[in-house]
Amino acid sequence: MADCTIRVNPNGPYRVTGPATLTDPQGNETVIEEGRGVSLCRCGASTNKPYCDGTHSRIGFAAAEAAVQKSGS
Ligand code: FES
Repeated sequence: MADCTIRVNPNGPYRVTGPATLTDPQGNETVIEEGRGVSLCRCGASTNKPYCDGTHSRIGFAAAEAAVQKSGS
């Protein structure tokens, strides 16, 4: 069985490729079959959360592409 992969798209969504299970706050599960994928909103502006609806392109979303090191650690 393949592993779930999560790809961070530049200035766009997280692309999740199954096998994986997405669980909403009410506990409802959506199964992502092996080899199938969904795009999860990273910009916060989608009207179809948790899924990306392409709004990130229209609003010019610019993401931090790498984690920022904590100072003093
Ligand atoms: S990342 Fe695409 S709408 Fe938010």
